[in-house]
Amino acid sequence: MKVSIIGGGGRVGSNAAFALQCAGLVSEIALIDANADLAAGEALDLLHGSAIAGDQKIYATDVKGAADSDLICITAGLRRKPDESRLDLINRNVSLYKGILDSIKTVNVRKDAIFLVVSNPVDVLTRLKIEYLNWPAKQVLGLGTVLDSTRFRSLIAKARGLAPTQVDAVILGEHGDTMTPIWSSATAAGMPLGKLLTPQQQTDIFSQTQKAGAEVIRMKGGAGYAVGLSIAEVIHAVLLDNRRILPVSTQMNGQYGIRKVCLSIPTVVGRSGAIATFEPELWPKELQGLAASARALDETWAKIAGK
Ligand SMILES: NC(=O)c1ccc[n+]([C@@H]2O[C@H](COP(=O)([O-])OP(=O)(O)OC[C@H]3O[C@@H](n4cnc5c(N)ncnc54)[C@H](O)[C@@H]3O)[C@@H](O)[C@H]2O)c1
Repeated sequence: MKVSIIGGGGRVGSNAAFALQCAGLVSEIALIDANADLAAGEALDLLHGSAIAGDQKIYATDVKGAADSDLICITAGLRRKPDESRLDLINRNVSLYKGILDSIKTVNVRKDAIFLVVSNPVDVLTRLKIEYLNWPAKQVLGLGTVLDSTRFRSLIAKARGLAPTQVDAVILGEHGDTMTPIWSSATAAGMPLGKLLTPQQQTDIFSQTQKAGAEVIRMKGGAGYAVGLSIAEVIHAVLLDNRRILPVSTQMNGQYGIRKVCLSIPTVVGRSGAIATFEPELWPKELQGLAASARALDETWAKIAGK
C-alpha cells in the first residue's frame, strides 16, 4: 500500500511518516511539501533507518507523485497559535487548502483513493475536501477526535494508575472547543469508569484533554508524536481493512439528526474508507455536546462558503 503525505516535511506529516515506518505495514511512503528541501531531508532521514525498520520505499516527490497512492494524507497547513481556536485558523488555512485541492485536481489520482484530512480545522476542511473536489464522502476521512480520544484515554490512565491500552473511552463531535467526552460508555477492562473516578477527577481529566493541544503547542511548538500515531492508526485500519471502529470525522447523513457537517461519531474504517457509522445511546448532555459541535461547524461553514 502506498501512502502519500502532503505536508510531509512538517512536524505532523514527518511524525506520521515515522510512525508508519516503525509499524512497517505500509510498503511505500511519499512525502510532498511546498518546502521541497524539507520533504527531501525528512525522507532521507527516514530512509537511513530503513535497514533497521523494514523494507519500505521512502522518498520525497511532488503532487504528481501522489497519483498512484492508495491513501493521501493531507497535513499541510498553518499551525494554531497557542491562544487561537482551531476554527479561527480557517480563515488562514482555507485558501492554502483550496490551492492544494486545485493541485490534486490536476493529478489523475486513483478513483478508489482514500483521503485522510489532518490539517485544521479538520472537520471543516474534511467537508471542503468532499464538496470542493466532489470526492465520494465515504472515501474522505478526517482525523477528527482520534487524537483527542487517545489523549483522553492516556490521561485517564495516568490519573488512576491504569494501563492506558485497557482504558476504553472516546471523545466525539468537533475536533475543537465543543468536543464531547463520552463518559456513559467509558470503561477500563470492562469496569465502568464512572465508578473508578470521582466527578471532579472526570472534570479535571476532560479539561486537561481539551487543553492538551494548546499546551503542547506552548511547550514545544506543535503536536507530533501522538498525532503521528493517531494518523498511523487510521491508515492501518484502511490498509488492513480491519473494520476498526474509530472516531474519524465523516460527513453526517442524518446520524443523531445531523446533516452535511463533518464530525466524529463511531465509524467502521476499512479499505473503502468509512464503511458504516454507529449511533450508540448517549446521555442527554452528550447529545447536547454533539448538537453544539454541529452548530459550531455549520456556522463556520457558512462563513467560508463561497469564499
Ligand atoms: N487534526 C489533528 O488532530 C491535528 C493535530 C495537530 C496538528 N494538526 C494540524 O496539522 C497541520 C500541520 O501542522 P504542523 O505542526 O505539521 O505544521 P508545520 O508548519 O510543521 O508543517 C506544515 C507543512 O505544510 C507545508 N505546506 C504549506 N503549504 C503547502 C502546500 N500548499 N503544499 C504542500 N505543503 C505545504 C509547509 O511547508 C510545512 O512543511 C496544521 O493545520 C495543524 O493545525 C492537526
